[in-house]
Amino acid sequence: MGEDTKILTVAGKGGVGKTSISAAMVRILSEEHPEASILAIDADPAIGLTTALGVEPTDTLDDIRKKIVNSVEDGHPKEAIEMLNEARFRIFDTMLEEKKFSFLAIGRPEAAGCYCKVNSYLKEVISLLANDFDYVIIDGEAGIEQINRRVMEKVTHLFLITDPSRKGCKVVDIIKRVADELVMYDKCGVIVNRVKEESIPFVKVETAEILAYIPEDKAHADNDIKGISVFDLPSDSPVMAGTRKALSKMQLI
Ligand SMILES: Nc1ncnc2c1ncn2[C@@H]1O[C@H](COP(=O)(O)OP(=O)(O)OP(=O)(O)O)[C@@H](O)[C@H]1O
Ligand SMILES: [Mg+2]
Repeated sequence: MGEDTKILTVAGKGGVGKTSISAAMVRILSEEHPEASILAIDADPAIGLTTALGVEPTDTLDDIRKKIVNSVEDGHPKEAIEMLNEARFRIFDTMLEEKKFSFLAIGRPEAAGCYCKVNSYLKEVISLLANDFDYVIIDGEAGIEQINRRVMEKVTHLFLITDPSRKGCKVVDIIKRVADELVMYDKCGVIVNRVKEESIPFVKVETAEILAYIPEDKAHADNDIKGISVFDLPSDSPVMAGTRKALSKMQLI
């Protein structure tokens, strides 16, 4: 634990399968490493990982923060790090000890349109909590903002997710270049999702190795509509098999 903690995150354009794949990662890591402690973090203010994992969180990190701020009688909010140390046990309270992983949602920011506060808390929390776990899987929001703001400062494994579209691949290349500039990861690779066999030769990612291609997964799409988690997917379904291949290439399983 501690120094050996693996911190995995997914990034990419909107709607390409980041949440589906990070949920599959949580399941596969918990199956392959039954003794390991695993934390899943939903860093997307829109909160989608809960359904994908089949969990119902109580308080988000932002809820906890608000409670602490409200409880400071003198009206001077404490520094983030101080507050989080104080809040640590509460954060563990919100973690669900189910299905062999803990879960934490970051939640929504106070002011509409500004996620900077939440992002800076996310950074602090990841640093604080990561040491207590063997694996941390972070499902990020779409685009480049969280990368740009160095929210994922301590990532060890960066998974860039895209569909076969040129736009998706370009977003992957942009995120990779920014991540390189910020020196924010140890290992990086691409997963191309929802790709037809015949489209594979046309997929053009310039900056990173493609770890796996995942075809259309009907069972997953149907489950998603019904709100059924990835834990109910057949273990050889395309999303599970492709994610397993990517984790294996990154030597995580
Ligand atoms: N391989 C696949 N086959 C079929 N459907 C898929 C596949 N991967 C993802 N989907 C579906 O595509 C939709 C978007 O997936 P998901 O929510 O995982 O993407 P996302 O990148 O997290 O989106 P957002 O940017 O909105 O957070 C969902 O309805 C999901 O069920
Ligand atoms: Mg998502």
